[in-house]
Amino acid sequence: MEQTFLMVKPDGVQRNLTGEIVNRFERKGFKLAGAKLMQISDELAKTHYGEHEDKPFFGELVQFITSGPVLAMVWEGDNVIATARSMMGKTNPLEAAPGTIRGDYGVTVGKNIIHGSDSPESAEKEINLFFGDNDIITYSKQDSDWIY
Ligand code: PPS
Repeated sequence: MEQTFLMVKPDGVQRNLTGEIVNRFERKGFKLAGAKLMQISDELAKTHYGEHEDKPFFGELVQFITSGPVLAMVWEGDNVIATARSMMGKTNPLEAAPGTIRGDYGVTVGKNIIHGSDSPESAEKEINLFFGDNDIITYSKQDSDWIY
């Protein structure tokens, strides 16, 4: 089953949007396979955003992502990588369509609420960077008489 890495950024946590964001992916039909609230170190931030190290906003990006706790998550389901990106909306909240997470809650390009892997390669890399094997839970929805 395809997996992606999603992260509620410090602005999303500070603005109490974590529940809303988890809710969107649950209601869409995806399955949460791992989650942790964490404070990202400078080193982890620089590794995670390494491909942007030559961009003028790199310093600001690292400073922001380490400025407070984030909710790192692994979600799974068919086409979850592309679908999550479309649910997130464009990087710049000004261009993100209403109904998307950034379109509904974001204001500025730096503080855009959520990060999501943009390809299968980056999903694998980012999941392995943030989660150990024991942090990801494989489970099936139960066939029970107490879910109705
Ligand atoms: S690029 O240049 O197209 O490759 O970059 P982009 O994909 O648009 O953005 C990469 C990540 O950097 C964040 N970003 C910024 N942060 C702070 N300040 C500014 N000006 C800025 N511009 C872009 C952007 O939100 C992306 O973060 P993630 O977490 O991947 O969404």
